[in-house]
Amino acid sequence: MLVSAAADRWAAIDAEKVARGAYLTRTHAWLAPQVLRFLRAAQPKSIVDPFAGDGDLLRAVAARGLGPVRGFDLDPARGFPVRDSLARIDAPRGAVIVTNPPFLARHSAARKRVLDGVEHWFDGLPHADLYQVALDRCLAAASHVVAIVPETFVHSAFPKHRVASVTVIEDRLFDDTDQPVCVVCFGPESRPPSRRIYYRSRRKLLTQAALDRLLPEPAGRPGIRFNDPAGQIGLRAVDGVGVADRARFVQARELRYDRERIKVSSRLVTLIRVEGLAARRVAGVVARANAALEALRERSHDLVLSPFKGNNHAGVRRRRVDYAAARALLERAVAEGMGDGRAVGAG
Ligand SMILES: C[S@@+](CC[C@H](N)C(=O)[O-])C[C@H]1O[C@@H](n2cnc3c(N)ncnc32)[C@H](O)[C@@H]1O
Repeated sequence: MLVSAAADRWAAIDAEKVARGAYLTRTHAWLAPQVLRFLRAAQPKSIVDPFAGDGDLLRAVAARGLGPVRGFDLDPARGFPVRDSLARIDAPRGAVIVTNPPFLARHSAARKRVLDGVEHWFDGLPHADLYQVALDRCLAAASHVVAIVPETFVHSAFPKHRVASVTVIEDRLFDDTDQPVCVVCFGPESRPPSRRIYYRSRRKLLTQAALDRLLPEPAGRPGIRFNDPAGQIGLRAVDGVGVADRARFVQARELRYDRERIKVSSRLVTLIRVEGLAARRVAGVVARANAALEALRERSHDLVLSPFKGNNHAGVRRRRVDYAAARALLERAVAEGMGDGRAVGAG
């Protein structure tokens, strides 16, 4: 299948592997000290991995004496009792679930032509990815759940009231995918956003409440149009692999990108038209929007931005600015640039 239209790259897809989400962990970097503390405090009678693969997570917890372990998998070749854990999980009383469920977005299943084989698991559920179906099943079966899931969980609509902590993992966990992941610890009770803690590796960053306060909300002012080939402001929405190559706003002429390639669906590089913004003010608006973006990244430890596949050369996760955040930053920078806080489009 085509993996990059821009680069005209094709790759063979292992349909079975994709449909099963069978990417196995190869290191134990996910078992950060706070995750281990959470598991110990849960006093598990046993640990269950309903998507056990070759049992790597179970080996990691068994090696730390966390209790007897049991695994299940849909694939008989894995050597565990066969269960369809996306349909239902039966965990013994007092069991804690530790797992790395299959990840497969519905749209990606359609694109990779495996949707027919997995669609029934989504039936009647609002979820957009199989890992969310798996989380639903795990949370119904156990009071405590530790799950390695895509980092996009952070900004997803998945209910977070039982989340105790989210640990962003930048170390490479898998050999065969560079999907950015995090470890989510769910407890038995609902807790307020001020008691849900975000970490990167072992470092505590901020609470969900603090993160929510930082999310930039666009006011929806008219006069700012994204994906407009005639735009005066460019946006490179994704960090490059070079450390200095950060996502940023630029003046359109500095974008070095063919205007013809800007489409309504462009998400990574685009041009933005700001009605009524005089040419002499563009540089100032770009500078202010970039300063606000960098300040936001620092305050939120980058977590207001979405993860993007792979790390940069310094081993730091690459990030993407979504257009809602970019619009909010630009709205403010333009209003300041007008010098008098007038609405964009006021001339
Ligand atoms: C991402 S792998 C995780 C393996 C293991 N936990 C690890 O991290 O090494 C997902 C595993 O879930 C299994 N799986 C996929 N769909 C399943 C289902 N409906 N029920 C049970 N296991 C399933 C796959 O066969 C695969 O082994």
